[in-house]
Amino acid sequence: MKMEEKIEAGKKYVMHTYNRLPILLEKGQGSVVWDTDGNAYLDFVGGIAVNCLGHSHPVIVEAIKEQADKMIHCSNLYWIEPQIELAKILVEHSVMDKAFFCNSGAEANEGAIKLARKWGKGRFEIISAVHSFHGRTMGALAATGQEKYQKNFVPTLTGFKYAGFNDLESIAGMVDKNTCAIMLEPIQGEGGVNEPDPEFFKGIRQLCDEYNLLLIFDEVQTGIGRTGKPFAYQHYGIEPDIITLAKGLGGGVPVGAMLAKDAVAESFEPGDHASTFGGNPLVSHVAHKVCQTVFAPEFLEAVNDKSEYFRGKLEGLKEEFPFVVRIKGKGLMIGLELSKDATAIPAAMLSRGILINAIGTSVLRFVPALTIEKSEIDQLIEALKESFREVLA
Ligand SMILES: Cc1ncc(COP(=O)(O)O)c(C=O)c1O
Repeated sequence: MKMEEKIEAGKKYVMHTYNRLPILLEKGQGSVVWDTDGNAYLDFVGGIAVNCLGHSHPVIVEAIKEQADKMIHCSNLYWIEPQIELAKILVEHSVMDKAFFCNSGAEANEGAIKLARKWGKGRFEIISAVHSFHGRTMGALAATGQEKYQKNFVPTLTGFKYAGFNDLESIAGMVDKNTCAIMLEPIQGEGGVNEPDPEFFKGIRQLCDEYNLLLIFDEVQTGIGRTGKPFAYQHYGIEPDIITLAKGLGGGVPVGAMLAKDAVAESFEPGDHASTFGGNPLVSHVAHKVCQTVFAPEFLEAVNDKSEYFRGKLEGLKEEFPFVVRIKGKGLMIGLELSKDATAIPAAMLSRGILINAIGTSVLRFVPALTIEKSEIDQLIEALKESFREVLA
């Protein structure tokens, strides 16, 4: 069957919750993916920051096979060795003490919201940021400071306020006797790869200490080496109280996590929170191997080296294309802001065999495999030049 016919079947049977580009991807190797008609594409979307080791990396493939041979799932009524190992490596590479496992970013944030409320002992309000994105489940949606995601699903969960990101005063002005936590992405992903000023998080930390509030860092997109460090909070000289993770954690297998310091984690007692699949042997073993690979200093050095190379190349575009405003983000979470409408660029890139994605109307986002090659970055840059000339010049 031709790809087009398969896509027609998709339209008939799969619920229409995504605006999909008209290709059906069937296999991948490293940063190259192929559709069912045999066309190859260079992947700078990486499952939106999920495929951190690229496609079918031997570490992941081996880990799946090894664990599938032993045990795929067992209940959290029993201890699970790969889960313990995964918790240990996450704790040892962060300032957190304990881990809870689930299956997605939204679910990790649901866990964080519940933990903050239990810890708050009656204080229940959480301040998050305008343009944030924390997921689509009802709690995570309520935390998401974007009306467009909430408007068709009101009433959303009560107890959330939205302050300006990078606006300490606006956040401080919202703290009251009911506030228990401030929840932020270190770098806003879906909101446009927005970075705060370097001192912003120090002010937030002080505010949390002053009013005894938890600082929840949603590192679903920024965590696991994406920004060139194991966790993005490590760029800012502060410590959050809770970190949520998903995306890159499993390198493609669905696993989420919520990490917390002991003083916070101990608020949860058996029965307070759970997830049937959370931290099962299969995903935990894979995620443990992913973390072992990504947290190696030489791996992260290579990420930073490629980031610098990539950013330099993007900077170079400014000369020919004055509508290139700036390069945003850290590590291999990069946004290219244009002063022109960028929405036609992903399709122009697709026709040149490159997958990228646009956020809103003016930011192109690049979240490739952390194993991307410099020669592949060169290919992207050439295709971007062609696409800019074709669509925007
Ligand atoms: C920062 C952040 N938090 C939460 C989520 C939701 O994650 P998931 O789609 O796995 O539920 C996302 C997804 O894009 C995200 O970027």
